[in-house]
Amino acid sequence: MSDSPVQQNTRPEAAAATTQLSGILRRVGMIGDMIDRSVGNADHPLRIQIERFDGPVQAVIDGRQTTLFGTNSYLGLNFDPRCIAAAEQALRQWGTGSTASRVASGNQDGHVALERTIAKFYDRPDAIVFSTGFMANMGTICGLASDGDLILYDSHCHASIIDACRASGATFKPFKHNDPVDLDRLLKEATVPASRILVVLEGLYSVWGDVGDVKGLATVAKDHGALVFVDEAHGLGLYGDNGRGVTEAQGAEHLVDAIVGTFSKSVGVIGGYCVTMHPALKSLRFLARAYLYTASLPPAVVASARTAIEIIASEPGLRAEMWRKAERFCLGVEALGYSLCAAPGPVGSIRMRGLVQGMDFWRDLLARGIYVNLLIPPATPAGEVLLRFSVSAAHTDADIDKFLDIMREMAPRAISA
Ligand SMILES: Cc1ncc(COP(=O)(O)O)c(C=O)c1O
Repeated sequence: MSDSPVQQNTRPEAAAATTQLSGILRRVGMIGDMIDRSVGNADHPLRIQIERFDGPVQAVIDGRQTTLFGTNSYLGLNFDPRCIAAAEQALRQWGTGSTASRVASGNQDGHVALERTIAKFYDRPDAIVFSTGFMANMGTICGLASDGDLILYDSHCHASIIDACRASGATFKPFKHNDPVDLDRLLKEATVPASRILVVLEGLYSVWGDVGDVKGLATVAKDHGALVFVDEAHGLGLYGDNGRGVTEAQGAEHLVDAIVGTFSKSVGVIGGYCVTMHPALKSLRFLARAYLYTASLPPAVVASARTAIEIIASEPGLRAEMWRKAERFCLGVEALGYSLCAAPGPVGSIRMRGLVQGMDFWRDLLARGIYVNLLIPPATPAGEVLLRFSVSAAHTDADIDKFLDIMREMAPRAISA
């Protein structure tokens, strides 16, 4: 048997398939070449390789000690000794992986305990854990909506939400970012009953760093009788008295039918979840293909996620510390004359004048031992070039001062025309 049946097969239908394949390969190859040409070989946002981590926000990149202001480790829990100890213990007791889906032999005590912890944290009867945040959106949205339904989503929603809308089979339309009036218009124009409409939005949008108007949008959706889904990927652990996210902070939990979140940001590992107050949504365990047809999370990840959520629930001081740092950071950046895309918060962006200036600025920061994200179209709204930062409770005041000192030196280049 050959490993490469397409090359070996000489039948006419195989030849036709090969021609088709070469068309696909040609197109994909051209895109790859284009990316190689524009990315080059060194110091490009798409070529960053971390050689060593020295804690959640310190790393060695290209032999240089670098402070990271572009991770999602908002609370530094990926290096918390308690999370690491829980992971180590689970690793020894349960092995490296679950090797099966939750509906086969991949349903271990740890997965069930993690779901109970999340349900308790949200004060809801149940929670469903997925293997990534992307899959939590895929599984939940595709499990809820299908042919004949309508999904109305915020135009700044994450790619996983857009892909889920596409895969669901439902009709889907964006409403203007954070605009309850536009949502109301679309709900009025809808040709399906409101009970077949799912409104999808996020708690914290991580490109501009602006907070979703969860309460305003959910109120409009509920006035019409539509279902509301909120992705709290970035809000979890940072907003609300209990750290449940922007929905909690705005007092809107009673208006939201399903909340999805991820473990890959403040929780510090990988995985995702959905919580809901509707008993009917237990069916998601059988309807969500992204839950059914994939292996469950590795035990070490499950154990550290559970420990991290318990820390988030019981230690509001960690959240407060992150906010103190985020304010110090953002107010400092604004005082230097840079303009932020949104109010000070844990994640945000500074607008660059264009691609070349943005690239140069990003490279100079890296050369001085600061890593941030450079976001370029099509990953940004309105084709902007953005320097995106995130702040962590694990940053020291000295880390922030170092960043501000460097930004002060570089300010004339970024600000003057
Ligand atoms: C809003 C939002 N939802 C979902 C995801 C996907 O989460 P994960 O990376 O955990 O799969 C992300 C990741 O960046 C996100 O920003």
